[in-house]
Amino acid sequence: MSRVAYVDGRYVPHGRATTHIEDRGYQFADGIYEVIAVSGGRLVDDEGHLVRLHRSLSELRIEWRMSDRALLAVLRELVRRNGVSEGSVYLQISRGVARRDHPFPKASRPVLVATAKRMDFAGVAERQSKGVAVITTPDIRWGRCDIKTVALLPNVLAKQAAREQGAYEAWLVDEEGRVTEGSSTNAWIVDQDGNLITRKADNSILNGITRIAVLGQAAERQIRVIERPFTVAEAKAAREAFITSTTSFVMPVTSIDGAKIGDGKPGKVASALIGAYRDHMAA
Ligand SMILES: Cc1ncc(COP(=O)(O)O)c(C=O)c1O
Repeated sequence: MSRVAYVDGRYVPHGRATTHIEDRGYQFADGIYEVIAVSGGRLVDDEGHLVRLHRSLSELRIEWRMSDRALLAVLRELVRRNGVSEGSVYLQISRGVARRDHPFPKASRPVLVATAKRMDFAGVAERQSKGVAVITTPDIRWGRCDIKTVALLPNVLAKQAAREQGAYEAWLVDEEGRVTEGSSTNAWIVDQDGNLITRKADNSILNGITRIAVLGQAAERQIRVIERPFTVAEAKAAREAFITSTTSFVMPVTSIDGAKIGDGKPGKVASALIGAYRDHMAA
């Protein structure tokens, strides 16, 4: 089945899906995006993703007029046309096409592009059963990491550093030595008293939709959650660590900068939350 993308009002063959060279998303990273998981052919947590999408758009003052209903119809049609049962959809909205100049153009129309792709959920489960390695690296991003913009260069560099060191993810560390989040995931630890710790959703992190779901599942299981920053040293001394995201779900972290976490195997809390999140996706 050949892939189909959606570009500014049209479904087009993926290989021929293009936008204008003066799209502000391309020139200024002046745009926002979302990635939504697809499970059993259905969008997971679409409501939460739409809430965050609107928040990002409004923070950047991008005037977006398409209704959520119409947008969801496009995404579902993409899932159908690409025959995706397990995978994800990517959607990006830029401020639009205009002659290159920094201020907002007087007249421009936001441009929506979207793609759908298949993912091997069994591969994720395999990785979850073993856990992954993370490295730490300074967080060199801007002050509004709560907005899901397409300006991801520091994240790209961090992820590349992780790959080059044989790790799955890079945890970004602020000037006080505290972990903000991963390059494309939220970061969590379980301390020696069994408290689940993750940074509060302020401007220093993206408030993950998976993060929000997992906070709810932890509360249902009477797991004590503390939303506060934690240091790299605390993380290395933790009983467990894990990351969350739309495409990694709940992923145990078994080493940080080469130091083993706990007994070097996925922990009990992470394993319970993996199960809870799997049920949530299937529901
Ligand atoms: C920087 C960053 N933090 C956290 C996340 C996790 O967010 P979500 O759970 O909505 O996928 C992402 C996802 O792309 C991200 O890019």
